[in-house]
Amino acid sequence: MNTAITSCLSKAETATPKNSFTATLQDLIEYPTSGIFSKVLLKDNNSQYSLFCLAAGTKIDEHTSPRNAVITVLEGTGNLNLEGKDIALAPGVFVFMPANAPHALQAKANLAFVLTLSEHSPAKREISQQTIDIVKSTAPILKQHGQKITTRMYEIMFRKYPEVKAQFDMSAQANGTQPAKLATAVYSYATHIDNLEALKVMVDKIAHRHVQAHVLPEQYPIVGECLLQAIKDVLRNAATEEVMTAWTEAYQVLAEVFINREYHIYQTTSDCH
Ligand code: HEM
Repeated sequence: MNTAITSCLSKAETATPKNSFTATLQDLIEYPTSGIFSKVLLKDNNSQYSLFCLAAGTKIDEHTSPRNAVITVLEGTGNLNLEGKDIALAPGVFVFMPANAPHALQAKANLAFVLTLSEHSPAKREISQQTIDIVKSTAPILKQHGQKITTRMYEIMFRKYPEVKAQFDMSAQANGTQPAKLATAVYSYATHIDNLEALKVMVDKIAHRHVQAHVLPEQYPIVGECLLQAIKDVLRNAATEEVMTAWTEAYQVLAEVFINREYHIYQTTSDCH
């Protein structure tokens, strides 16, 4: 669990990039008796600059951020574990953490740093023409067996990962509405894999539902694993190696689309890192 951030400046107190902005950071440093105090100093659509003040002994468990991040230490000492490597934090240390790099932090003494988050625009993953052709060719069979596949998917997922059950409305599972919605989404994706723009409205609706249900990026591999297994179980001989390879790639692309959309929705509903 991440340590709770005890306070954020309200939007009104956060500088906007239209105005020039100067702050004497030493005057803003304020340590809580335990945990973290953070202030957003400045933000725009691409970047966010925050002051973090961690009480001695505070730990932030390993996590990732989809944005590039820089830590600039102002005072205090601590340890940053970045992609498995320990980095000693002390005044003047500057660390760049690429997007999605796992990191964990511990304050040894009261520790203050500026965290700069900047938008990371990964090169859009190109889906190979072969994958597009194979996925499109599976659309009719997915239409025919869609609900059987998604019902099986939830069966596998709830058995193997029972902890995700709490996020679902189990009555929508029992009466088949959720498996039917997922089957429609998977079928729509198969037919529009070469024109993702056409799926924008659908992706937006699902992404908002996901944010309401607190779906996290690290849960996508779970759904992917269970969906691919369900496709195999239901389609049997029709689930050739070629088909499974194409759907593995296609699922990853769709998962990225959702993760990015959901990230932006989470950002607009929270001021904190
Ligand atoms: C690419 C993968 C995914 C697709 C295509 C997908 C599709 C959908 C669809 C179509 C809905 C119904 C939205 C509505 O009611 O309008 C939904 C809801 C939901 N999804 Fe996903 N989803 C995906 C990944 C995930 C992941 C990774 C999780 C995490 C466990 C998840 C959890 C949920 C939850 C909790 C709901 C609400 C269902 C309920 O109310 O019972 N989904 N999803």
